Amino acid sequence: MEKAGTKVVKDEDKAIKSANSCCFLRAMGTLEKDKMVRNPDYLSKDLTSLKFKLVYNLIPLKFFKSFIEKRFPTSYHHLIARTKHVDKIFLEEIKHGVEQIVILGAGYDSRAYRFSNRLAGIKVFELDFPGTQTLKKKRLKKLFNKIPENVIHVPIDFTAKTIEDVLKESEFDAKKRTFFIWEGVSMYLTESAVDLVLKFVSENAAPASSIVWDYAYKSFIDGKYMPKGGIEAAEHAKKNNEPYLFGVKRDKMINFMNDRGFEIISHLSPKDLENLYLKKNDGEIDGNVHQYINIVYAKVI
Ligand SMILES: C[S@@+](CC[C@H](N)C(=O)[O-])C[C@H]1O[C@@H](n2cnc3c(N)ncnc32)[C@H](O)[C@@H]1O
Repeated sequence: MEKAGTKVVKDEDKAIKSANSCCFLRAMGTLEKDKMVRNPDYLSKDLTSLKFKLVYNLIPLKFFKSFIEKRFPTSYHHLIARTKHVDKIFLEEIKHGVEQIVILGAGYDSRAYRFSNRLAGIKVFELDFPGTQTLKKKRLKKLFNKIPENVIHVPIDFTAKTIEDVLKESEFDAKKRTFFIWEGVSMYLTESAVDLVLKFVSENAAPASSIVWDYAYKSFIDGKYMPKGGIEAAEHAKKNNEPYLFGVKRDKMINFMNDRGFEIISHLSPKDLENLYLKKNDGEIDGNVHQYINIVYAKVI
């Protein structure tokens, strides 16, 4: 806790807002009647703020969807598709023998708790901004009384410290096959901060380690490509003091990852995400994802 003038500023007051918004959108998505579209993150409603929990409890999904589609177009469906895709890879990694998991910029990611019965012997390291983490731990304790022993919360500011600095002081074991999740974070970082993360993963993780991460199109970051929802999202990010900074051209991504020691396993475009995860029972797509974000899954060469 630190003092700013006479006002006491708690760590949790500095929690990153975008993490709470993502969690809230996931919570609303769990209310979908159609199983094919529903967001599987059933813990999100308990990890979001009280204010958003009230909305979850009181506002019918139909009204919420029409409101959010006007205010922040594509964000609601984006969170559904992203959660489902990363969940799928997460479970495949466990099936194929991953030995530890690191979640970078974890926010209110609930996988360590939702899938706890499949994580015997697998440590999960959640790295995040200290303020966000303090608040999350408070909510987890309220929910489960205590935090599971295999989950290790590691505070970090990616712009001030390297993952190496913080992980080498934790129980992270560089000899173990590791799966890294880096969801909804890279766009808020500088290119050098992104490079440091990828460098750490490629140089410090055992063979067959992998990472799933999402990135924005460079043209979106530069303001040259503004598809539906782009302006609203960029303005909101700026207003929250979390401006979008980093992007890559989609056709440069293979080289981008190769140059940093990775081979791409999958590279999903917005259309791929919609077709895979947002098709309703009747075959129609329920809504669009962010048209400026792709998701890459790659393994260390
Ligand atoms: C949009 S949220 C995504 C959170 C989570 N991965 C999810 O998908 O719900 C961005 C996350 O990045 C973290 N973050 C942003 N800038 C950071 C920084 N400089 N250092 C550490 N974490 C940061 C925030 O605390 C937040 O949890």
